Amino acid sequence: MSVNEFAYKTAFEEFPIEKVVAEPDLQYGFFDEAIGHQQAEQLKKFREMENRLPMFDGTSFSDQVHFQNAYKTPVQRWFPYREGYSTRLVNSFIDELNITGNVFDPFSGSGTTLMAARTHNLCSFGMDTNPISVLVARVENEKYRFDDIQNISREIEKIHSLVKSNERFETSFELAGKMFNDDILQSLLQLKNHIMEIASEVVRNLFFVAWLSIIEETSNIKKEGNGIKYKNRKRTASGYINIEKNIWEKQTFPKDKFEFVKRKLARHLGTILTDIEDNFGVCENKPKVFEGSCLKFDEYFSDQIQFTFFSPPYCNCFDYFEIHKVDLWLGGFVKNKEEFRQLRKTGFRSNTNAIDRKPIVYKNENIEQLISLFDAEMLWNARIPSMVRGYFDDMNTLFNKLHAQTIRGGFVGVVVGNSAYAGVIIPTDFLIADIARENGFKVKNIFVTRHLTTSSQQKRKLFPLKNYLRESIVLLEK
Ligand SMILES: C[S@@+](CC[C@H](N)C(=O)[O-])C[C@H]1O[C@@H](n2cnc3c(N)ncnc32)[C@H](O)[C@@H]1O
Repeated sequence: MSVNEFAYKTAFEEFPIEKVVAEPDLQYGFFDEAIGHQQAEQLKKFREMENRLPMFDGTSFSDQVHFQNAYKTPVQRWFPYREGYSTRLVNSFIDELNITGNVFDPFSGSGTTLMAARTHNLCSFGMDTNPISVLVARVENEKYRFDDIQNISREIEKIHSLVKSNERFETSFELAGKMFNDDILQSLLQLKNHIMEIASEVVRNLFFVAWLSIIEETSNIKKEGNGIKYKNRKRTASGYINIEKNIWEKQTFPKDKFEFVKRKLARHLGTILTDIEDNFGVCENKPKVFEGSCLKFDEYFSDQIQFTFFSPPYCNCFDYFEIHKVDLWLGGFVKNKEEFRQLRKTGFRSNTNAIDRKPIVYKNENIEQLISLFDAEMLWNARIPSMVRGYFDDMNTLFNKLHAQTIRGGFVGVVVGNSAYAGVIIPTDFLIADIARENGFKVKNIFVTRHLTTSSQQKRKLFPLKNYLRESIVLLEK
């Protein structure tokens, strides 16, 4: 069967999930007044690019690309990773393309691609710069043995019988006092100390991930949009109101904070154990996950790849380190501001915090023309043009290396969203296709999976361009 959307559709019945209506958040773009000429120039350019590309309707993938059911999906529910796609999506491509060789995800996040490869018994490699993602991907793809399961049960019992300590536990995270109720913070830190004493590394890591995953629900903050928001800040018809911290905590948390935190952890570990006992952890080919930048993946492994499937950070200023800031600090992955700053710089140049003095080597006429349409005064950050150039410079480095290490006839699938700045759309799907082609790949399909919605006011301003603000899957072949 030829590679077309219908063929993919037929491969979808692996484990059914209910349909959810995906509602993207506004992190995808920052718009301002769009000018007539500016829009006309863009339309001309996009139509020109589109005519050269194999565009497909991929709406049947829409709820898998923006996967809202991770929190109730076995294994993926171990850690609330909001930026992942579904294993079903990757499985469909592996089946459809008859993949039998090595699989790679250069931005492995919570390890979804690796999980799909593992269930097909394929060797796989993953990379991520965020140590939390690396830990989660390793733990979710661990090969749990019978004695691990027994050990996990015993350690859950020990958690149940823990009592509150009188010791005072310290953290280097300066904002902890604002972001947590003090008793809850102490309970979390006591439990973390307890977990760090678990002798088996496999069990310790699993418990640590469970502990990381309860931080948000026991804290005073939530991950929202492009950052962290305080839960005691409520939106009302007349604007925001702040409920005083102590009052809010009293209304929200039960009296016995230690029992509250301990029970949440034990309950979550119980769910994890059920998944492991149900054999979701079974695998012969344990994925290899490396911590580091994918721009240097060839320094970590030299095996040839048949299928690379990934979703890079989008060119939309979303900062993966900022969103995981509390977990990174409280989990002890960073111990001071300088370490946090340095970690941020290791990321893809998709946000203004990740830009360093790295030179921009890659030149692309389409990108330059779009940047020339930016109205500098309407940009909310003067570093955005450099960030956009840096983003595609990084993309070019990645595709160059991917081409060198992919077998002839191998495939690359990229799940990516477009973004917009000051009325100018950055059509990342088209530009990735351009870059991949320049590096020797053939563009097989671009599946447009869903359009991103904005406020009605912005929609009006972007009206002629609105179809280009979307999430797509770009499929390439060597
Ligand atoms: C969209 S998420 C990937 C989600 C993943 N597909 C999943 O289903 O869980 C992008 C990931 O890229 C990682 N990242 C950012 N810069 C990177 C780099 N230079 N090298 C490797 N990973 C990077 C981020 O930490 C984040 O985990």
